[in-house]
Amino acid sequence: MININLLNSKIEKSVESFDKKRVQEVHDMIENKTGLGNDFLGWVNWPKDYDKNEFQEMKSVAKKLRSNIEVLLVIGIGGSYLGARAADEMIRGLYHNDKVELIYIGNTISSTYTKQVLDYIDGKEFGIVNVSKSGTTTEPGIAFRVFEQKLVDQKGKEIARERIVAVTDKAKGALKKLATDEGYATFTIPDDIGGRFSVFTPVGIFPLLVAGVDVDAIFAGAFKAMEELKDVNNQAYKYAIARYIFNVESNYKAETLVSYELQMQLFLEWWKQLFGESEGKDGKGLFPTSCVFSTDLHSLGQFIQEGTKNVLFETIIDVKKPTQDLGVPENEGNLDGLNYLSSKTFHEINSTALVGVVDAHANKGDVPNIILEFEKMDAEMFGYAAYWFMKACAMSGYLLEVNPFNQPGVEVYKENMFKLLKKPGY
Ligand code: PA5
Repeated sequence: MININLLNSKIEKSVESFDKKRVQEVHDMIENKTGLGNDFLGWVNWPKDYDKNEFQEMKSVAKKLRSNIEVLLVIGIGGSYLGARAADEMIRGLYHNDKVELIYIGNTISSTYTKQVLDYIDGKEFGIVNVSKSGTTTEPGIAFRVFEQKLVDQKGKEIARERIVAVTDKAKGALKKLATDEGYATFTIPDDIGGRFSVFTPVGIFPLLVAGVDVDAIFAGAFKAMEELKDVNNQAYKYAIARYIFNVESNYKAETLVSYELQMQLFLEWWKQLFGESEGKDGKGLFPTSCVFSTDLHSLGQFIQEGTKNVLFETIIDVKKPTQDLGVPENEGNLDGLNYLSSKTFHEINSTALVGVVDAHANKGDVPNIILEFEKMDAEMFGYAAYWFMKACAMSGYLLEVNPFNQPGVEVYKENMFKLLKKPGY
């Protein structure tokens, strides 16, 4: 479902001749859970090992909730929200006709955004899924206070109880206690799966069920990737090796992941967290950035084409089959001179643009391009692609000799903020 094309990367031969023994060693470390951070490798076999009883329970709670609401507020930050949103947007698109809209809060402290969502849901039928492993993260914590109160005020305590769901640690943490005390349905974030690897757990799956997404197809895609990537000679590892060569051997500092599809924008954000938090430590790692073309061709395209060299390479997601397509209409006067396109569809033009841009950037601009050919953008593809990148990330992080599963640097800002806000104990 994903094919890696290195023809415009300039490192095809180096990838082919890369140290196979080292790749096998790292592969064994991932599969046998013997590397750094090995207590966070629960995601590796999750598409097979996930809790089937909990899945059925989630389906039934989600079905009931879905039948009663127009808006689901998904509260969470980082790994506790990006996966659900990436899947939601990739699979349903940005303007779908489904009855349930997902709105994401608790990922910002912006007063304007939070107040506007509060006003937007006024008088609407809404539910809340509060996702936090620790239950103490400031951003989702204060958002939950506001929206829980709003729901109680709008519908009363009884109905609010039926419409609030917590996704959190199985035993410890403030959210677990709060949910138990209030009688909210609760689903578990496994101990051995960190936030950015958690999209196939209730963190991603519960909101997607409420959104009416075919979650069985997501698991089918993830399972397919899991099986394929048990073979050490796989495309995801090729991608990881290519990143390593650019970063360590050629001293590139940044990678930009490019999509030509707006519905993939949040998938790019999810990918940025996955690689940024997994590799950006001990003074190492590529800075992960993203672009959506054509939009960014008319802004960052200038820099990519002619700006500082040997810093950035591009990885292009080339989606072969769009979710929908449409033709360009013929125009009688042809004042804009665009009738030459009227025999083509938008997707044909988009795909042709991609070919032209790769040639411009890679051959004329000297910016290496990796192309990842994606079959399509449905639920199965999301499951496959998310698992594919997680496995690539584990290989890539271990090749760099970092622990890909912790994020100690994220705590520094929190400590400063707590001190300034005079949190007790800081
Ligand atoms: O990936 C991570 O570990 C982080 O992004 C966390 O998911 C994020 O900080 C949210 O933490 P929590 O789920 O404890 O609220």
